[in-house]
Amino acid sequence: MFLRTGAMARAHMVAIELSALTREAGLSRCAAFVQHGDTSCLLHCVAVAFYSALLLDALRIRYDRRSLIRGALLHDFFLYDWHQRKRAPHEPMHAFYHPIAALENARKCVALTPLEENIIRRHMFPVTLVPPASREGLAVCLVDKLCALYEGFARGSYPLLRRLYARLLADSPEISDGQ
Ligand SMILES: [Fe+2]
Ligand SMILES: [Fe+2]
Repeated sequence: MFLRTGAMARAHMVAIELSALTREAGLSRCAAFVQHGDTSCLLHCVAVAFYSALLLDALRIRYDRRSLIRGALLHDFFLYDWHQRKRAPHEPMHAFYHPIAALENARKCVALTPLEENIIRRHMFPVTLVPPASREGLAVCLVDKLCALYEGFARGSYPLLRRLYARLLADSPEISDGQ
């Protein structure tokens, strides 16, 4: 019962920020792009936000929950199909390039805290060499890798999360996970 209540409360907080960022930044545009397997970029970001909060809650670590969720929701806000991206010879590969693209896209639309900026910019550590500067950033960095691994193998990924959001977002037709 505790876990169920905790999951709903966590999912509700993610839904509130998802709704706000969709209004302010058009975050739901991420649903148009595949991240891994059959998981959209939007569902991936929702999962990273949800499970990063779950990880720090489970470890009883104090953290800024709103900044963690907003940073996680925006961490892959790069808005292109990375499988199809054509790059000039001097342009960096997607793995190095997209945290900066996501940060620039987010900055154009919303005011970010320094913590949120750092979560987005540093989430590809250790591929990019500088680690996140916070426990929130480290959680997002770790959970992002685990989610990517899972999504690479899963079909119909995150069934619990999809069910939770089907209920929580029933009144928000502007948001879809694109599946
Ligand atoms: Fe990423
Ligand atoms: Fe990611």
